[in-house]
Amino acid sequence: MSEPVIDRRRFLGALGLAGASAACAGAGGTPEPDPERAPTPPEIEGPFYPVQAQKDRDFDLTRVEGLDGVARGEQVWVGGRVIDQHGAPVEDAVVDLWQANAAGRYRHPEDPSRAPLDEHFQGWAIVRSGADGAFRFKTVVPGAYPAAAGWDRPPHIHFKVSKRGFVELVTQMYFPDQPLNDIDRLLLRKTPAERTAMIARRAEPGADGLPLLDYVIVLERV
Ligand SMILES: [Fe+2]
Repeated sequence: MSEPVIDRRRFLGALGLAGASAACAGAGGTPEPDPERAPTPPEIEGPFYPVQAQKDRDFDLTRVEGLDGVARGEQVWVGGRVIDQHGAPVEDAVVDLWQANAAGRYRHPEDPSRAPLDEHFQGWAIVRSGADGAFRFKTVVPGAYPAAAGWDRPPHIHFKVSKRGFVELVTQMYFPDQPLNDIDRLLLRKTPAERTAMIARRAEPGADGLPLLDYVIVLERV
């Protein structure tokens, strides 16, 4: 019976997780918790957190309540999951998110961009995770925008995620396969593992055929 234990140590060691073996219950067929996961890296909130009253903050950012049009840009679903550092789902977390429109402009009075506003783009949403930690929203891929001379921010979505008993997380989610990711001054400050955690992954599209991105948020307990 000792052989599987040795194998597990070897496996964890290969992952650089040997220290996590103490957290594994293992004996008698009890399911073992996942190895410790790093909390999602934080990132600056930026200057464009929404400040204007807005009634429609639902999961569909591609339409604004009371208007007939649809937001300009490439539509995409983001399917997220909020978990704790052991991989357990975090239910009823408040996921507050905001982003630029497809032209790279925020609906914020301080945004100096001359790119056009889009009255059909909601720009801001507050959704909650379900019992399985999952949340989802439909949006458009935000445009890149200049942050300083010689620096264009890659497409990204800002997040503020909160739940009693956990450290509030303010971060930014990036899109896969974006060349600007490789030269972004904020992303470049992160380690390779942190960058991987902050860039959403492509998943199989759903029935409507729109691209689906998978984004996992790991919250740290207080
Ligand atoms: Fe931003």
